[in-house]
Amino acid sequence: MSTAISPTAYNYKVVRQFAIMTVVWGILGMGLGVFIASQLVWPQLNLDLPWTSFGRLRPLHTNLVIFAFGGCALFGTSYYVVQRTCQTRLISDSMAAFTFWGWQAVIVGALITLPMGYTTTKEYAELEWPLAILLAIVWVTYGLVFFGTIVKRKTKHIYVGNWFYGAFIVVTAMLHIVNHISLPVSLFKSYSAYSGATDAMIQWWYGHNAVGFFLTTGFLGMMYYFVPKQAERPVYSYRLSIVHFWALITLYIWAGPHHLHYTALPDWAQSLGMVMSIILLAPSWGGMINGMMTLSGAWHKLRTDPILRFLVVSLAFYGMSTFEGPMMAIKTVNSLSHYTDWTIGHVHAGALGWVAMISIGAVYHMIPKLYGRAQMHSVGLINAHFWLATIGTVLYIASMWVNGITQGLMWRAINDDGTLTYSFVEALQASHPGYIVRALGGAFFASGMLLMAYNVFRTVRAANPVEADEAAKIVVVGAH
Ligand code: HEM
Ligand code: HEM
Repeated sequence: MSTAISPTAYNYKVVRQFAIMTVVWGILGMGLGVFIASQLVWPQLNLDLPWTSFGRLRPLHTNLVIFAFGGCALFGTSYYVVQRTCQTRLISDSMAAFTFWGWQAVIVGALITLPMGYTTTKEYAELEWPLAILLAIVWVTYGLVFFGTIVKRKTKHIYVGNWFYGAFIVVTAMLHIVNHISLPVSLFKSYSAYSGATDAMIQWWYGHNAVGFFLTTGFLGMMYYFVPKQAERPVYSYRLSIVHFWALITLYIWAGPHHLHYTALPDWAQSLGMVMSIILLAPSWGGMINGMMTLSGAWHKLRTDPILRFLVVSLAFYGMSTFEGPMMAIKTVNSLSHYTDWTIGHVHAGALGWVAMISIGAVYHMIPKLYGRAQMHSVGLINAHFWLATIGTVLYIASMWVNGITQGLMWRAINDDGTLTYSFVEALQASHPGYIVRALGGAFFASGMLLMAYNVFRTVRAANPVEADEAAKIVVVGAH
């Protein structure tokens, strides 16, 4: 559905494109998640083909949910927020369009190359060098569009949500470029410039900060705009949001070694990672409380507004996963949790509960505004989606806790004579019921996304171009 937008208005076209693709990639990425979860229940689903094997589809899942679904949500919302809070149009329409098409090209590249088995083998950085270079170019352009728009802002101050988006853009560029330095030996094969423990450290400096800056800081930018907007209340404490920002970005960058406990990494580095992770609890909870308390005086809205419910429950899961993370970073706890499904449960408490729920809430908030409607086609369907997502997340993480602790305890159990009490296969058998529950939870979550797609489709189909054009006009009087 195309709408005519006057040049003096916000660029909503690119926001619409990213918002729609968030839903599309969400369905594909999560659908694939359900498929690989089912492969762990019924291994026959590997279909005896290399392209459909768990080992190749797993990184495709992570790329689709993190970079395609999460990435589109971040691009779309950041373009929306930066325009509205700076009361100016994006600095360049063509550069913004390039970031949209370039980003989709990277994702399509992942869709083709990962099932074919082309990979750097570095987790979350699997894409081989031609795609990694394209990604870097798109990302730098994204930075130029975002910061260029901030520079030409009509407002005096820079709203805190933009600080978070800005840090996410700068640090992601740095992580991606440093971790990807490699020597290409053919079109689809390259070798990392680093080796041994250094390679591992650089990789987990990247990996952890991909969590910290891509999956956390960017989404906190989203939180600082959409929670106050949907609750129609100012942020609880602007001062706390500034403290939250500086504390979070100075601490996150040191915590990477908690992914490498009990490895060849020097012991002091492991301990430093552990201590920094524990301290990280404070700013994480500061941010969570700031978001939650924004609802002071507006709690009653939760009864009638399922979009607000998505946003608030996402904050609850953010609080939960940022409590769990520091606990898992303690070396003695990690000696039990590492390699087990507990880690997978923790990941999805953050990924489904926090990242996906806040993105879903933000997209539901934006779609009617982008298409000139008062609200989404069906509030009832949003409510149904909310319950499918919440129940799905709880089933997923609870089953993985049970599995993780079972596996950890079974693997370390030893007999009096020093032999292992259980074989690996026995621990695997004990995990089977948990895998069934996880696949079911995932199916709940993914089916909620289908309801969302239908609801978005109906809202877009009923778009009101005149209203949309009106809403995109820049009104420079206070409100954003
Ligand atoms: C319907 C929803 C989903 C299902 C059923 C699902 C399922 C899975 C499965 C089965 C794995 C492999 C676990 C293993 O190797 O034992 C996995 C890994 C992973 N998923 Fe998902 N997933 C879903 C949604 C998401 C979302 C929305 C995100 C991120 C925003 C995400 C991020 C990840 C990550 C980062 C890993 C790798 C974890 C690690 O290596 O520790 N997933 N997922
Ligand atoms: C204060 C905040 C957090 C801390 C200190 C933390 C800590 C940890 C620790 C200790 C692990 C296990 C490492 C291992 O044994 O291999 C882990 C894994 C992970 N966490 Fe967190 N976590 C935090 C928040 C989050 C959030 C909010 C998310 C998601 C949005 C998240 C996503 C992940 C992912 C994807 C992994 C798996 C990495 C992998 O092995 O592939 N974490 N985290």
